[in-house]
Amino acid sequence: MPSTAIVGTGFYVPERVVTNDELTRYMDTSDEWIVERTGIRERRWVTDGMSGTEMARRASVMALEDARMAAADIDAIVLGTLSPDHFFPGNGVFLQRDLGLESVPALDIRAQCSGFVYGLSVADAWIRSGQFRTVLLVGVEIQSTGLDISTRGRDLAVLFGDGAGAVVLTATEDDDRGVLSTHIHSDGRYAETLWTEAASSRKNPRISAEDIEAGRHFPTMTGKDVFKHAVTRMPEVVQEALAANDLEVADIDLLIPHQANLRISKMVQHRLGLPDHKVVNNIDRYGNTTAATIPIALAEAVRSDRLHAGDLLCLVAFGSGFTWGSALIRW
Ligand code: ACO
Repeated sequence: MPSTAIVGTGFYVPERVVTNDELTRYMDTSDEWIVERTGIRERRWVTDGMSGTEMARRASVMALEDARMAAADIDAIVLGTLSPDHFFPGNGVFLQRDLGLESVPALDIRAQCSGFVYGLSVADAWIRSGQFRTVLLVGVEIQSTGLDISTRGRDLAVLFGDGAGAVVLTATEDDDRGVLSTHIHSDGRYAETLWTEAASSRKNPRISAEDIEAGRHFPTMTGKDVFKHAVTRMPEVVQEALAANDLEVADIDLLIPHQANLRISKMVQHRLGLPDHKVVNNIDRYGNTTAATIPIALAEAVRSDRLHAGDLLCLVAFGSGFTWGSALIRW
């Protein structure tokens, strides 16, 4: 059976930098509050006309160039996002079209911040089973157009940014590299702890003037509950992955946690007992780009020489749903 190797990485973030100081013009907040509670100093927000599909395309082209492959080499697309360009169809088919592909399947994954790890799990299964040889896996998010940037929405608005990350996955017969395992979970009891209520197909019309007045089209979160579950589930699912592979925390060379909030990542790091140099954090520059945080951080880690052949890479995510998951990869 082949295993799944990551042979190319890429990312794209919008040019517009939104600093914490800029946010103080729209809401009652401060750079000090945001840095202390979240570790975020700035994020990127799209300007008019930029779509999730286009950001995904740019990240994908970079990943394909890195892999020295052409779009025609892709056998399937898996794309994670909670902020598709349209209610339907998903961004995957728009990306397929914009890459000039004609009939390869495109699957959108709705697992929010865990979308990339969920997508890796699916793509890895496809590749190991022999169904597809090369899969393009993308995480992309436009959060900025869906945030309440008034004081009412400040708890969430300061957290999120826009961006895209992509990897090219391909079958390898090399036993010394590739995805060792993925573990994914969810717990729907907490579906409304971090969610966006409207628009909703449960209602006709799906969104009303009253919904908009009440701000139901904006995300809401019980932050303390998200924090508590994130710092429990992420170390737990890393330990689950290590145990499944007969490995220990000390074997991890690099951990890329979903960039939810620096305090969450620091707590996860602390609970696992990992030193700073083994953990990637870039939330200070991009904020929380949801499904895109892990592939963006991975692309940056590769380019800053933080990963070497043979290294044990661990990815871990937690997000709305709740959903969570981990992946262990021999680089
Ligand atoms: N600026 C200034 N004050 C704010 C802001 C803001 N942006 N947001 C909230 N506050 C205020 C609140 O209104 C509250 O005021 P009050 O005491 O007068 O009522 C005060 O700050 C404290 O609010 P808390 O919610 O108690 O703040 P807390 O210390 O819990 O921090 C935070 C909030 C950062 C959201 C925290 O709950 C947290 O880290 N949660 C984790 C959730 C998270 O990071 N999610 C990321 C997205 S989900 C994911 O990716 C998994």
